[in-house]
Amino acid sequence: MHVTMTYLQKHLSLVVLVLLQRAVNSDVLQSTTFSNTQQCHRLCWYRPPCVAYSVTTDVIASDVTCILHSDPVKNADIPSGWQTTTATAKGISNSCAVRHCSLTQVCVPSLTSHTCLTLQLDCGVPPSLPGSVFAYNGTGVGQEAILTCASGYGMAPYGRAQATMTCQSNGQWSTLTDHCQKVEFDAPSVPFIKRLPWQLDFGWKSCFRGTFLGNGQMVFNFLADEEDYLNKDVAQYQNVALQIAFRDHFDVYRNITSFSRKVSNVWGSPPLQQTADMPLTPGDPFTLTFDLSFEWFEATLQGAGYTAKFPSQGIVNFNSVVHLGIAQDLQLTYVHLTSAAGCTPPGV
Ligand SMILES: *[C@@H]1O[C@H](CO)[C@@H](O)[C@H](O)[C@H]1NC(C)=O
Ligand SMILES: *[C@@H]1O[C@H](CO)[C@@H](O)[C@H](O)[C@H]1NC(C)=O
Repeated sequence: MHVTMTYLQKHLSLVVLVLLQRAVNSDVLQSTTFSNTQQCHRLCWYRPPCVAYSVTTDVIASDVTCILHSDPVKNADIPSGWQTTTATAKGISNSCAVRHCSLTQVCVPSLTSHTCLTLQLDCGVPPSLPGSVFAYNGTGVGQEAILTCASGYGMAPYGRAQATMTCQSNGQWSTLTDHCQKVEFDAPSVPFIKRLPWQLDFGWKSCFRGTFLGNGQMVFNFLADEEDYLNKDVAQYQNVALQIAFRDHFDVYRNITSFSRKVSNVWGSPPLQQTADMPLTPGDPFTLTFDLSFEWFEATLQGAGYTAKFPSQGIVNFNSVVHLGIAQDLQLTYVHLTSAAGCTPPGV
């Protein structure tokens, strides 16, 4: 917040005015130090967006810290040592007792009348966040900054192309509920365990490329349990919404791919789907697309001409999926968690 205060100081007899760094709470209009509470009361009333003010109640200190709020303050939010009062014209006898000025102005009283002084509030350059690109024409009150995600990043929640924040009359950007999350990975290490910032929804696709190492099973676990995320021992996952396993371990598992579920550490039986022809042999590169449509959940191994699918509704609760864990017996060269087109080009 950058405000030219010389004029104000003269007319409002502000003793010291310290504009603190942007406060954590977006409702904080301004934070100032005064010599008494009445000055805070007046400044709040003179600035129309102010609905309440808080002052420190330390009786030993010679100054009071004054915080102006643009939203009603809940009692529960008031820390001890502070007192919060709703803005009123009580005790103000000059012409500013009526709120004549607009939300971006401050009323400055004179003996016979008042002046509405426009505050040159500025929200400053939008924050620098990983993978985030802000487009804006200016950073003054009322102006918007549009967030889009850089290449390799996706908007969370999934499915949104952009998000907008507005520079508010308190000189702070409105809160963004969406953010950009890394979704594309080159040669990530295995196990590959990622929190998904969105719920899996119809229309979701993803792409995985790598090499099947072929001593056992290559598994993709869609996890429904927050705790499992930190569990690096994939065999110990407790709640697996969906496991897709490509098995090449003839003596134990035989030669199959399977789709299974695990709840409270117990595998569902029989598996949701089993096919008899694991198409990869050890050392084979693969390109795998997962595609969740309204009708099917499909896993396609391009090149190998292999597709397995099962109905997308009623069997697996995709909404419950919070993490993806890819483990065992494979190398990954590329992962895209939300590739709208699946793997392009589809070949290996
Ligand atoms: C910037 O101004 C142009 C031209 O008026 C407008 O089309 C565009 O939407 C504005 N961008 C933002 C982020 O407000
Ligand atoms: C395993 O799968 C491969 C590839 O489809 C096939 O050639 C082979 O015959 C299968 N082996 C068994 C034991 O089913």
